[in-house]
Amino acid sequence: MTPPVRCDRTPAWAELQACFEASGRDFDLRDAFAQDAGRFEAFSQDAPHVFADLSKNLIDAGSQALLMALARQCGLEAQRDALFAGERVNRSERRAVMHFLLRKPPSAQYIPAQAAINKIADAQAEVEVTLNAMLAYAEQVRADPAITDIVNIGIGGSDLGPQMAVLALGEFAMAGKRVHFVSNIDGDELAGVLKPLKPAGTLFLIASKTFTTAETMTNARSARAWFEAQGGQDIARHFAALTTNVAAANDFGISTTFGFWDWVGGRYSLWSAIGLPLAIAIGAAGFREFLAGAHAMDGHFRTAELEQNLPVRLGLLDVWYRNFHGFASRSIAPYSSALRRWPAYLQQLEMESNGKRVDQDGQPLSFDTAPVLWGEPGTNGQHAYFQMLHQGTSVVPVEFVAVKTAAHAPHDLPGHHTKLLANVLAQAQALMNGKRDAAGPPQGDAAPSGGRTLSGGHRDFPGNRPSTFLLLESLTPASLGALIALQEHRVFVSGAIWGINSFDQWGVELGKVLAQDIEPRLDSGDVSGLDGSTAGLLRKLVSGPAA
Ligand code: F6P
Repeated sequence: MTPPVRCDRTPAWAELQACFEASGRDFDLRDAFAQDAGRFEAFSQDAPHVFADLSKNLIDAGSQALLMALARQCGLEAQRDALFAGERVNRSERRAVMHFLLRKPPSAQYIPAQAAINKIADAQAEVEVTLNAMLAYAEQVRADPAITDIVNIGIGGSDLGPQMAVLALGEFAMAGKRVHFVSNIDGDELAGVLKPLKPAGTLFLIASKTFTTAETMTNARSARAWFEAQGGQDIARHFAALTTNVAAANDFGISTTFGFWDWVGGRYSLWSAIGLPLAIAIGAAGFREFLAGAHAMDGHFRTAELEQNLPVRLGLLDVWYRNFHGFASRSIAPYSSALRRWPAYLQQLEMESNGKRVDQDGQPLSFDTAPVLWGEPGTNGQHAYFQMLHQGTSVVPVEFVAVKTAAHAPHDLPGHHTKLLANVLAQAQALMNGKRDAAGPPQGDAAPSGGRTLSGGHRDFPGNRPSTFLLLESLTPASLGALIALQEHRVFVSGAIWGINSFDQWGVELGKVLAQDIEPRLDSGDVSGLDGSTAGLLRKLVSGPAA
């Protein structure tokens, strides 16, 4: 592959800066719509299972063209092709990144570069065997009336993806099987889940790519101790491991294992054996639809022209906002209670992938990378922090997700879905259009300042606050698969432009190592060598109760 060029070393970078100074900083969405009747069409994009309205973003034809030039100058297409050819794009760990293979049906036509054909074909064959075994097991569990509770023990990518997806597809889940997720090392979580359970009805899935993560191993050991203490005997029937480290799972005493490979990153592993809780919930056919939805998005990303490529358009917009507008965060607003873990899932996907301060060569960056992602499902967020989104001093782009129709088994509560949709449209509209308080101080209605007259400014909404609107026809296994793959590729795009490694996560290591050093000190009280604050806190924690 021709070496990629870092964004700040391209001519387009300087041109974008000039464009921002000339027209980007003062860009006004209201004017843009007034001047261009075709803006909605020009700045919206159909992709498999997902329609995106990008028109309420602070972009125009000029800035978009420069962003496309930036993508080409950074070698985005070559970087994308290297990913799909199975090259070792995760350079710091010398690994290929091929989660897309996990969702490719064997019949799908996809011819990688000559050099990669054998490697990809071999990997694909292993994927098929493992997927078939895992789905057969999922069906076996579904058909077993004695198993009523599935407890997934895992953290990070071994928790957030499956948990988010099981909740999102609750309408498709089999009755009579409850799926629980335990991630935190805080024993309250595991103890709370175990309390009503009986060993005979419980299946533990120990989900860990490495099978070494402290939280997961601690919870797994406690789960096994609980199981045995309660008279449980058949570990092979009641414990399964989802891991690349089958040997460690066997050493732990688990013989039922489903493997995957080092070329599947933890936060990209939902499509592998880590997806087993979802497969149990929605069945083998549902899980294959989920994979097919993601595969359709892979095809779009791999083949659509950059100008009509939704992950590319979103990823470039992220660069525009982070590096030129200086927006430090993005609010994620799924207007679907089923998608309530969507913001948490995206936090790991984007911030663990692109929260980096050096480039692929380890050189410090002179520009910002991943924004902070945060959010809650709508309409709850409206009654918490939307005040700040509308009238605060910082501009925070919002990414809405709305679902046109309730899916599989729609609830029959009249009016709710229409009101939900009315709210998401209204919020996007209010953020963009704002409102001048032409009437001046409030008349008649309760004045929140205790009777004093409010000046008009309190009721002004400045507007011109950007948002993206992602619309699904319905929330199904296929559309969820596509929505997730869209986000994975969008994170790849911004990471490729920034020239960083989106597939390692060295930043989580230091805390893990320090916790191992501190743990015995909480017994011994030894504070030698610690900084003053940590030593002070440790002394407080080991001393008797405060007087
Ligand atoms: O938090 C770091 C991390 O390595 C994540 O990338 C990963 O998803 C998580 O820990 C869990 O790792 P494992 O699946 O190996 O237990």
